[in-house]
Amino acid sequence: MTIKPVRKAVFPVAGLGTRFLPATKAMPKEMLTVVDKPLIQYAVEEALEAGIEQIIFVTGRGKGALEDHFDVSYELEATMKARGKSMAAIDGIRQKPGSPVYVRQQEPLGLGHAVWCAREIVGDEPFAVLLPDELMVGGFLRQMVEAYNRVGGNVIGALEVPDSETDKYGIISPGKVDGRLTEVRALVEKPKGKAPSNLMIPGRYILQPEVMRVLDNQAPGAGGEIQLTDAMAKLIGDQPFHGFTFDGQRYDCGDKAGWLTANIALGLAREDLRAPVRDFIATLDL
Ligand code: UTP
Repeated sequence: MTIKPVRKAVFPVAGLGTRFLPATKAMPKEMLTVVDKPLIQYAVEEALEAGIEQIIFVTGRGKGALEDHFDVSYELEATMKARGKSMAAIDGIRQKPGSPVYVRQQEPLGLGHAVWCAREIVGDEPFAVLLPDELMVGGFLRQMVEAYNRVGGNVIGALEVPDSETDKYGIISPGKVDGRLTEVRALVEKPKGKAPSNLMIPGRYILQPEVMRVLDNQAPGAGGEIQLTDAMAKLIGDQPFHGFTFDGQRYDCGDKAGWLTANIALGLAREDLRAPVRDFIATLDL
């Protein structure tokens, strides 16, 4: 079996972000900041650190701020230069000219549908999918790519959640476990009743292009949306399929509590912010 390298990453960013209203009424959810960076930038940096060469955004209406964020801001750069200010903060955001690709998902019909909208750009090679509202600290995609380079096929993130939360996520039915790799026997989106395990899929995927052929005909599933989980499940048995356990920190920033937690944790992790944030927390009567 030849294992083709993962060069492309798809970022589905066309969702409506209804859990974060009113912040997301006129602003993309993926532009919410944690400390001083928008969520999308954390995800793009994670992908670049994993060796990804081509960034593909699946956007929708009202997501213009996201495209501008990865573009050159002439006014800002000219002003910073004229004032003798460091360009370090904005230099990191620049992509090679012509490199990021934007495709549109005309209607938010679900994550599976959003990924399918990138099929022409993905072509016939394995690709990563990163959901930017899941903020991962610790280089999750890089670790997944390393595991993929050994076993090939499909490698998806796996994270243990309490039993009470399994009905909110795509859940793995596990087979053999080998270190941080778990064989995937089946996948269930938002299981009602008893879940096959408490291993959820935390928004990171390395998939073979055949999933696009499944998505060509995928019917809506849970919540009336076209689910990526349902399409991936159909590859099991035909291709190697593993879950990979993350050894790092995940913040669900699509949710207000998760986003607030991320701001506190990442604020405390920053040398320039630790003292004032810690001092404020110390004054709280909890
Ligand atoms: P979510 O379900 O977390 O995002 O999808 P949402 O629908 O925007 O949020 P809520 O639940 O209404 O608050 C996970 C990711 O998939 C993208 C979202 O933008 C998010 O990054 N997505 C979801 C799409 O691109 N298209 C869709 O049709 C659905």
